[in-house]
Amino acid sequence: MQLLTLMARRFVAGESAEAAVSAIKRLNKRRISTTLDYLGEECHTLAQAAEATREIRRLFKLIADNGLDSNVSVKATQLGLNLDPSRARENVLSILEEAAKYRNFVRIDMEGSPYTQMTLDLFHDVFRTRDNVGIVIQSYLRRSKADIEGLLAVGGRVRLCKGAYKEPVTIAFVKKEEVNDSYDQLTRMLLNSGLRHAIATHDDVRIENAIRYAAKKGIPKDRLEFQMLYGLRSKRWSELVAQGYRVRIYVPYGTHWFPYFYRRLRERKENMMFVLRNLFS
Ligand code: FDA
Repeated sequence: MQLLTLMARRFVAGESAEAAVSAIKRLNKRRISTTLDYLGEECHTLAQAAEATREIRRLFKLIADNGLDSNVSVKATQLGLNLDPSRARENVLSILEEAAKYRNFVRIDMEGSPYTQMTLDLFHDVFRTRDNVGIVIQSYLRRSKADIEGLLAVGGRVRLCKGAYKEPVTIAFVKKEEVNDSYDQLTRMLLNSGLRHAIATHDDVRIENAIRYAAKKGIPKDRLEFQMLYGLRSKRWSELVAQGYRVRIYVPYGTHWFPYFYRRLRERKENMMFVLRNLFS
């Protein structure tokens, strides 16, 4: 706990779901919604996947009992996709069934490229019988336009992010401008679809481009949902809410925080500086 407190506290709401509840209550008071994430990925055994499934299933009652405005995000490899796709499917379906009892929604995060197709297949498979589920698409992948076309064709709801994993140039844009251009193009596709998707970025230019495009097309403000990560740009969240937009914050908790924390440090040197200042102060 001490290490977590010192190093990751800015990005992780606590070690338990109960600890995350107080962070969520504070956000909800500011009219900010959340998506709760039990940290974990690439499980080593199916028993671990079953444990994660049990923990995630219990979140929907916790959210309802505390009157929280929150849905839940999951990673498919936390639920066994890397070991046994059919077991992962059963785990996801059991989570969606529990979520449905509480009229809640589950977002399947997107992981590194070895899992892109498997995660999309899993999504399309479970979406046939359960509509309380959405998926994440990464603008740095060259395939994402085609993936979004496939998702829009079935009415899938997308969270668009830039992508947080290290990917080879053969499959991913590596120049920032290319990733950003792709982001803006994919945002326009999503906004044109008539469904509510999520624009997940801390990048003001991407946010402003989305806002301008929606205004030009007469898309109502409540069809845009901006999403950001817990600990990053807290003032900006409230500014967007004050402008009439929906804002949802990704709130991770748990003890398996290192891979998530490491991705945050790698993508922005200011995040690293913040942690170092905390360590030495
Ligand atoms: P980027 O890191 O390129 O930053 C662009 C600009 O934003 C900066 O130049 C700066 O101007 C501004 N900015 C960024 N951080 C700031 C800060 N702290 N303060 C001030 N300005 C700042 N990834 C993934 O691969 N799979 C997933 O499922 C998800 N899920 C996900 C959910 C949500 C809600 C979010 C917000 C993000 C993800 N991600 C993700 C992570 C995502 O792919 C990406 O790694 C990070 O969001 C960082 O990229 P940005 O879009 O913020 O832009």
